[in-house]
Amino acid sequence: MFNVRIITKYTFQMGLLITSNRLDMLKLMDADDNKSKRLVSLMKKRGFIQPAFELYGGVAGLYDYGPLGGRLRRNVISKWLNHWISLGNIVEIDSPTITPEPVLKASGHIGAFNDYASECKSCNSIFRTDHLLEGYHNNPDALDNIALDNELLKNKIPCPSCNKSEWLPSEPLNLMFSTIIGANKGGRKAFMRPETAQGMFLQFPSIYRHFRGKLPFGAVQVGKGYRNEISPRQGMIRLREFNMAELEYFIDPEKDINYNLDLWDDVQIKLVPDPGKDELTEKRYTIYNAVKEGVVRDQTVGWFMIKTFELMLELGINNEYIRFRQHEQDEMAHYATDCWDLEIYGSYGWIECVGIANRGCYDLKAHQNVTKSNELKAWRDFENELEIEKYVCSPIQSIVGPRFKEKSKLISDHLEKLDASKINFPFIINIGGEEISIEENMVEIKKVNSIERGEWFTPHVVEPAFGIDRIIWHILEHSFTETSKENDDYYTILKLRNKICPIDFSVYPLFEKDGLDKIALKIIDSIREIDGINVNYDGTKSIGRRYARGDEIGVPYAITIDHQTIDDNTVTLRDRDSQEQKRMSIEELLLFISKY
Ligand code: ATP
Ligand code: GLY
Repeated sequence: MFNVRIITKYTFQMGLLITSNRLDMLKLMDADDNKSKRLVSLMKKRGFIQPAFELYGGVAGLYDYGPLGGRLRRNVISKWLNHWISLGNIVEIDSPTITPEPVLKASGHIGAFNDYASECKSCNSIFRTDHLLEGYHNNPDALDNIALDNELLKNKIPCPSCNKSEWLPSEPLNLMFSTIIGANKGGRKAFMRPETAQGMFLQFPSIYRHFRGKLPFGAVQVGKGYRNEISPRQGMIRLREFNMAELEYFIDPEKDINYNLDLWDDVQIKLVPDPGKDELTEKRYTIYNAVKEGVVRDQTVGWFMIKTFELMLELGINNEYIRFRQHEQDEMAHYATDCWDLEIYGSYGWIECVGIANRGCYDLKAHQNVTKSNELKAWRDFENELEIEKYVCSPIQSIVGPRFKEKSKLISDHLEKLDASKINFPFIINIGGEEISIEENMVEIKKVNSIERGEWFTPHVVEPAFGIDRIIWHILEHSFTETSKENDDYYTILKLRNKICPIDFSVYPLFEKDGLDKIALKIIDSIREIDGINVNYDGTKSIGRRYARGDEIGVPYAITIDHQTIDDNTVTLRDRDSQEQKRMSIEELLLFISKY
């Protein structure tokens, strides 16, 4: 059910097709900074993405998706959801973004969810310390505060604001936005969630019931995450409110799952394993070999790596610009035991867009410890039933009954569940918040033989966490193609994959007269009857200008109505990428669209 292979030769051919535009892209990514600027300006002009609250001066780290960007974002999210839900053992859930303080205390976010910041002694500007060290150190994210301060000093790092190189000792800053639930006085302290994951851990009992306790299973959640990033300055890469898409996959760590990783033997992925103190090196592996050789320590993590790689290709990310980098031991989040970042190369260099972490049983255990709930566990059958001898406490009712009256039943039930081989008298039990002392004369210790069929255990979790905005940014960069230049104007084609482009078809009457516009509108009505197709009408300016407008926002097909349409009911269909045009009847056109 969960090892269905979706990668196809077709996907790879498409990946290679994009690779053939590699030179264009290298220009975009490295030398030609102006190309990035042209993309940003196109995004704003055509309503994809733009800084939010601009009329009020804007706020760093907050962005809007406009009319085309909103649709693109929705399509990427739908593709992401289908990719995982179609595996059959994964369900979508939704939970609040406002999270009470005790939840994030238990999860370790209060206390551990920090970045180090350094303040310039001269102008008091504050920056993330690891960002100041980019270009000076291999992986500053993995350094502690003392090492960070030493690196600042050793490299004489200048302040980006005033150019002086004198820094106060770096300090940890918690990244969460705090709020109060209810009236300020007497309200409950809360935070805007920094990840969607905690909502899924707390829903474990309901997901467990849904799957009738049969591991492995998973839950996905798509929604906003909030991080009060220190000095965000990289456009869509570092936002303070962003779109997260996370998957928590619950497994029994003692059971082997066969993921058939050899199915991907014709796929090489670039890995950058944790080198310890040495230089980072990139090596190609099949996922099967990476797991077999122990480079990727856990096969569930390996399986999510290849499934995530597959999804990135389907979204239109160029396979040459994807790599997985393993976290250094000190770089890992407080909950993780192994973590691989999927990084995508673009104009900001290699950027983490997905983190795939083995969270072990950290979170479920943390919530068990605080809430004392027994519901965050799963049942595992033993392979063979065990006959065991054990010692139990049997309450002496003639003493317990009169002494504890209405509470005696609860106390007896509690005592019967205890392992009497570990008891020293007197001992304390907690019943409904009351501490009760149990003395030796209240119970009889009995030896019993019993059959044990299984046990309760805390499942482990493997989590791929996606940043949708970073992925969208790279999809746009990898799709942005400039084919020719006239004066200062470039001919631009946004080569988005069909499944995610905001508009699927544009219909253009050659002139808005002689009934051509009416035919165009009639054709649009027929197309709208086909489910899931987004079609638009454009009748202004020359046909060449309209093709160009469609190409730059990534419309895959243009349909043109001309005078011949009146005579023989035929139209032309123009392909965005090849720019080829084909004449066909309206019937053939509708058939083509219904198969699209
Ligand atoms: P970074 O090291 O870049 O700050 P992170 O390690 O804190 O990222 P995670 O905590 O693993 O990131 O979050 C999961 C995903 O969420 C990341 O892979 C990234 O795509 C996305 N993400 C994290 N922080 C931001 C942000 N400030 N803006 C946009 N996306 C983000
Ligand atoms: N849930 C992954 C993260 O926030 O780091």
